[in-house]
Amino acid sequence: MAVIQRLMVDRFRNLEAVDLALSPGFNLFSGVNGSGKTSLLEAIHVLSVGRSFRTHKIDPLVNRSQRDFLVFADLGKQGRIGLLKSRTGKNELKYDGEQQRNWQTVAATLPLQVLNTESFQLLEGSGKLRRRFLDWAVFHVEHSYLEDWRAYRRGIAHRNSLLKNVSTGLHAQLDAWDVELAGLGQSIHESRKTIIESFSSLLEALLKELLPGREVVVEYKAGWDSDHEFATVLREQRARDIKYGMTLNGPHRADFVIKINGVIATELLSRGQLKMLVCALKIAMGRFVERSAADANVAGRGDYQCTYLIDDLASELDRPNRNRVLAILADSGAQCLLTAVEAKDLDLDALIVERSGKFHVEHGKIQSYQ
Ligand SMILES: Nc1ncnc2c1ncn2[C@@H]1O[C@H](COP(=O)(O)OP(=O)(O)OP(=O)(O)O)[C@@H](O)[C@H]1O
Ligand SMILES: [Mg+2]
Repeated sequence: MAVIQRLMVDRFRNLEAVDLALSPGFNLFSGVNGSGKTSLLEAIHVLSVGRSFRTHKIDPLVNRSQRDFLVFADLGKQGRIGLLKSRTGKNELKYDGEQQRNWQTVAATLPLQVLNTESFQLLEGSGKLRRRFLDWAVFHVEHSYLEDWRAYRRGIAHRNSLLKNVSTGLHAQLDAWDVELAGLGQSIHESRKTIIESFSSLLEALLKELLPGREVVVEYKAGWDSDHEFATVLREQRARDIKYGMTLNGPHRADFVIKINGVIATELLSRGQLKMLVCALKIAMGRFVERSAADANVAGRGDYQCTYLIDDLASELDRPNRNRVLAILADSGAQCLLTAVEAKDLDLDALIVERSGKFHVEHGKIQSYQ
């Protein structure tokens, strides 16, 4: 199980010499504004995927008076991950003592889902975020997917540069690229479509509890008219692509829309209801990956479990809704790191509180308490 047993964070934003023994279930972090709660979740995110959920830059993450930061997680049987990242951009990422050239193995070992006030962007933001959400699942289920996606992106970039510089022999060059892109694109599309179909039934089941009484449909858009093969679309739309100087159709334009009783969710639901929908999407995707990996024994190292980083769940949600989300998470047995200004804001059942790790965050220092 990818459960973080021990977590160390140092020189990351205001966090200093943090060394925690975490519970495999709930871990509650409380502290006043600016104490370092979000920073702790952010540090785990950076360790897992190499980037923050708040910024694309490294500089703001390093403590102002330091040159680098350290994050370390002991996952027990799943191994140990350590990251030293400096302002100059130098990384030292180690998995079980072995230097890693990229985040592929580490990301596959420590799958995360983040729920915070930015999570609305999954529904309200650009298609890129929804593609990333989908691709996260495809990547965890089919590890070869990442290579295909990267090859496809490189191919599209190359095709676009050809389209912009019309020259003699252009069509022959495009013919060659289109064969490669058609194969990769079609397979990326098939993987995403399969994921959406299986994930939708898990989402429906969760929404019965989180947003009861509503009929929810996930509509997947391939990025082209998927009644036709991608190869045909590339060929037939070539003249238009040349006119616009870019590839207008393809999985790089894929998206999905969620409809509630036939209406686009963002046009119908209140803020709180949208947050419940986002919670359902993320928990359902976490579960989907866990189940698929268990079926396929993808991890090959026993169970495969997603860790949930939940920042300030109390914002936007009333007490009954908070309780619904927490009950589902508690039921799933997943490891969750939850933050709140005051622990009582989470309104956790006394039994859950008793079993949870409890931590007080103050001026970048974190202490456990009973
Ligand atoms: N690079 C940095 N070096 C030192 N301190 C930093 C750095 N970046 C941010 N901080 C400070 O770290 C503190 C922790 O921020 P964080 O967002 O983690 O707080 P929080 O506990 O989540 O607060 P809130 O309850 O308001 O969400 C803040 O006081 C912030 O000003
Ligand atoms: Mg915060």
